[in-house]
Amino acid sequence: MAEGPAGDLLEVRDLRVSFGRRGGWFRSRSARSGEFVAVDGVSLTVAPDEIVGLVGESGSGKTTVARAVVGLIRPGSGSILLDGVPVGPVGRRTTAQQRAAQMVFQDPRSSLSPRMTVAAIIDEAWRTHPDSAPDGDRTAALHRLLDDVGLDASVAGQRAEEMSGGQCQRVSIARALAVRPRLLVCDEAVSALDVSVQAQILRLLVDLRERHHLAMLFISHDLGVVHQIADRIAVMRRGVVVEEGRATDVLGSPRHEYTRALLDAALELSAANPGGAGGTEEG
Ligand SMILES: Nc1ncnc2c1ncn2[C@@H]1O[C@H](COP(=O)(O)OP(=O)(O)O)[C@@H](O)[C@H]1O
Ligand SMILES: [Mg+2]
Repeated sequence: MAEGPAGDLLEVRDLRVSFGRRGGWFRSRSARSGEFVAVDGVSLTVAPDEIVGLVGESGSGKTTVARAVVGLIRPGSGSILLDGVPVGPVGRRTTAQQRAAQMVFQDPRSSLSPRMTVAAIIDEAWRTHPDSAPDGDRTAALHRLLDDVGLDASVAGQRAEEMSGGQCQRVSIARALAVRPRLLVCDEAVSALDVSVQAQILRLLVDLRERHHLAMLFISHDLGVVHQIADRIAVMRRGVVVEEGRATDVLGSPRHEYTRALLDAALELSAANPGGAGGTEEG
């Protein structure tokens, strides 16, 4: 990809995505009749090495933004820029652009083929993007990758169905890392995990950011989780970013009442689970 000036790695510019109406019921957010506007003019940026949290309740349009960023859906209007270059859906991206932005999904068990071994999952990523495949010893490269995500080399022969949720999510992260991306789009990547395992995966992501100079768009409905990892936070509600700023500012003095409500909900949860992020082992 072109180097460009030290600008943003990702820029989402005035993104709009609508879907044909599901069900028969009226939704007031429709632009044209029969259309449902899931994302209604979202702009956000992620700088190299930066972790930007995208938070909002279920249905606010976060996953739709994520899917547009990695090219899985085509926006109705607006643009996605990587290194300042507008990019289309995945089929129209250069291989470098395809590799640059990788997604980590919520449910590792359904995003990994249960019968494939870890080695086969990583090998498939390398076959999809041969320019990221190791030149030399693949087994050694696989073991380095597993070590990178805190997994023992012995899991290489295991299948997803034999592993814990936390281990599966580490494999998903390894699969994303295998193609040497610059941006991880983590969509509710820890939401299906126990609180203690969540904390371990969040620490891993922070470590990986440092070791690999990764940027992240970290999406969660849980402000308490986003709080643990994000440098900046964008708050989405009903397809619109209602507040955006440095994490300390957004959390310390939220300007929008919706952010305050999310914050109150997160505080109530942590009061109900004091010390929830304790040191239980990943099973
Ligand atoms: N493929 C689709 N077809 C129709 N509606 C969709 C589709 N994907 C998402 N939506 C709707 O768009 C809205 C935003 O969804 P989503 O982006 O998944 O929100 P979030 O990730 O914040 O929960 C929801 O109301 C959802 O039902
Ligand atoms: Mg979602």
